[in-house]
Amino acid sequence: MVKGNQARRAAGRVGGLCGGRGRTKSEAVCLVDLFAGFGGVSYGAKLCGLDVTLAVDNDAVRAVGESNRHPSSQTHTPHTHTHTHTHTHTHNSPSPDVQIALGVHKQNFPKARHVQAKLPIVNKQPSKRNVRLPVPRRRTWHMHSSPPCQALSQAASNVPADKANTAIELVEYTLSLVVTHRPDSWSFEHVPHKGVRAALVRFKEERPDLCDFAVVDFADYGVAQNRRRLIAGNPPLIAAFLLKTDARPCIREILPHLPTGLHLMNHTTNTPLKGGGYRKLEPHEHMRSVEHDPAYTVMASAAHHWTDESGTKLRAVAVEEAAALQGFPPSFNMDGVTAVARRRGVGNAVPVEAARRLFEACVENM
Ligand SMILES: C[S@@+](CC[C@H](N)C(=O)[O-])C[C@H]1O[C@@H](n2cnc3c(N)ncnc32)[C@H](O)[C@@H]1O
Repeated sequence: MVKGNQARRAAGRVGGLCGGRGRTKSEAVCLVDLFAGFGGVSYGAKLCGLDVTLAVDNDAVRAVGESNRHPSSQTHTPHTHTHTHTHTHTHNSPSPDVQIALGVHKQNFPKARHVQAKLPIVNKQPSKRNVRLPVPRRRTWHMHSSPPCQALSQAASNVPADKANTAIELVEYTLSLVVTHRPDSWSFEHVPHKGVRAALVRFKEERPDLCDFAVVDFADYGVAQNRRRLIAGNPPLIAAFLLKTDARPCIREILPHLPTGLHLMNHTTNTPLKGGGYRKLEPHEHMRSVEHDPAYTVMASAAHHWTDESGTKLRAVAVEEAAALQGFPPSFNMDGVTAVARRRGVGNAVPVEAARRLFEACVENM
């Protein structure tokens, strides 16, 4: 063992977190971004020098009045040698108005390969395994997965059980890929739902060498927004990320142009009562100071509001402001999609700064 490591070091190569191929230090690590969305994760990776190689999404970010625009260049479907049931759209017939998330991703990461597919991609014969994704060969690569979480988030408590089960299946699918596709390192982000935790607990028990997880508030990791999420990945990566805590940034640090005295009012206006039912919140109970506090969780489905000190609503938080609170730079290209779809893609994203710290931890441990 020691001999092997010494030999690798002598050859100028460093090993992967999963004990993978090793790479020269100058070689960029490739990112495979599953459930890539608009690309909060990809953007954080890019800031750390990773090469965004593959982005997969089914583009299910739709809204009433969505434009039918398609990105000028085509997306790819995965190439497989087996007869598969992929739910993907062919190169020649992109389904109308469904290329929204992947289209925005492609505008910002034109060099990546974009695969429009509904995961998991499975063989028709149930005895066969999941289809292999077109991951990089002979390059060091990191797999990130952020499966959809709407069906499991707190705000969605009345979602039907089958939708919740599908969401958990996508978590299990991700964990199966860690074993079958053997990325050099991996990470995962989701809401801290009990079903997600249970899947992670089982996987960690089976593969303590491959998996650790933690529930964090991204406000403690440089994000000007309370956003409680479960993160998982290789144990050294998670340990290194957890060390990257910071003082909580306030809204003003991200949006310096806002007038003084402004407050942010949470879209949520009720609070659950212990004995059941709800109580309507007083304005001061769901308002925060721009000068001192992080924002409420940026949401995909609705906007919070700016108010004056008395709680009188002034206007909704603009999509561009929500994007900034999620860490997207003003140069991030969301052209060609409606405001509703932008808000959804932005609200669904992993905050760029949280992703950046995760990949910083990843690169440090490669
Ligand atoms: C939480 S968002 C991902 C956010 C992304 N990581 C980011 O940072 O911008 C989940 C994404 O999964 C996509 N999605 C949902 N179900 C899917 C499925 N079965 N297969 C592929 N993509 C799916 C949605 O279109 C959405 O863009």
